[in-house]
Amino acid sequence: MKAVKQVTWKEELTARTQKIETLIREYLPKETGLQKTIFEASNYSICAGGKRLRPMLMGETYRLFGGQGKEIRPFMAAIEMIHTSSLVHDDLPCMDNDQYRRGKKTTWVAFGYDMAVLAGDALLTYAFETAAKAFADTEYPERVGRAMGILAHKTGIYGMIGGQTVDVEMTEKPMTQEQLDFVYRLKTGALLEASMMIGAVLAGADDASVTVVERAASRIGMAFQIQDDILDLTSTTEVLGKPVGSDEKNQKTTYVTLHGLEQSRQDVEAFSREAMEQLKSLPGENEFLFQLVQMLITREK
Ligand code: IPE
Ligand code: IPE
Ligand code: MG
Ligand code: MG
Ligand code: MG
Repeated sequence: MKAVKQVTWKEELTARTQKIETLIREYLPKETGLQKTIFEASNYSICAGGKRLRPMLMGETYRLFGGQGKEIRPFMAAIEMIHTSSLVHDDLPCMDNDQYRRGKKTTWVAFGYDMAVLAGDALLTYAFETAAKAFADTEYPERVGRAMGILAHKTGIYGMIGGQTVDVEMTEKPMTQEQLDFVYRLKTGALLEASMMIGAVLAGADDASVTVVERAASRIGMAFQIQDDILDLTSTTEVLGKPVGSDEKNQKTTYVTLHGLEQSRQDVEAFSREAMEQLKSLPGENEFLFQLVQMLITREK
C-alpha cells in the first residue's frame, strides 16, 4: 500500500461523508409552498443520515478515472435521493412494515402512509430533475445523457424496482439460490452498479472499463446485501438505526437462511475480494476507494 498522509482512514471517511452531506443539502427543495408537506416528508427521510455509500462510490469512481468537473455533483445527490426513496417505500406497512430507519421513525410513521407513498415518488422524480441539472454544468453533454440512461435503467423495472418486486412477491415463500441471486443483483446491486458506472462514464472511461466497473459493483452489491442480512440477525437497533429481526418477522428467505452465518460471512469476503480484483485491474488508482470496498466486509452498520 502506498503511504498516504497521516490522517486515519476513519477521519478521512468522516470528512468525505460530511462533504457529501453538504452537497446533498444544496440540492434539496425549500420547504415552502402549499405542497410543503411533501418537501418536509422528503427532506425528513433524506436528512436523517445514512452512510451515503452510493454517492461516495460514485464520486470516488469518478476520481479513479480522473474526473475533475462539476457534472458529478447533481448525480451524487440524485443517487442518494433514489436510494432514500427505495427505503421510504421498503419500510411501508405493505412492504417490510418497519418503524425505524436511520435512527428515526420511518417516514410513514412520522407523516402517514399517504405522505410516505408520495415522498417516495417525490424523491424518485426529483432525483431525475436534479440529475438533469448536470447538462448546464458540463463540457460533455453526451456523457451526461448516457449517465441519465444508466440511472433510469438501474433504478427501474430492470433494476432496483424489478428486484424489490420479486423480493416482495417471494415473502413467506422459499427461494432458490438462483432466485435469491436475481433479487440481490437487482434490489441492491443495481443502484451500486449505477453509482459506480455513472462515476466512470462522466469521467470519460471507455466501454471496456465501464463493464469492469459494473462487474465490480455487482460483486459489491452481493457482499453488501449479504452483510445486511447478517446484521439483521446479529446487530442491534441502536447500532443499525433500523429494526433487527425484520427479515425473520417477514419470513424472508435470505442468504443467511440458505447458507448459515458462517458461510455467509465467508461469502461476503469472497465477493468483496472479487470486486477488489476487478477494480485493481483498471488503469487508475484510488486508494480511498479500495479501502472503502475493503471496509464493507467488516462494516457493522
Ligand atoms: C440499506 O442500505 C438498504 C440495502 C440496500 C441493504 P444502506 O445500508 O446503504 O442504508 P443507509 O443509506 O446507510 O441508511
Ligand atoms: C432493501 O432490502 C433493498 C432496497 C432496495 C431498499 P432490505 O429490505 O433488506 O433493506 P433494509 O434492511 O430494510 O434496509
Ligand atoms: Mg425489503
Ligand atoms: Mg427492509
Ligand atoms: Mg435488510
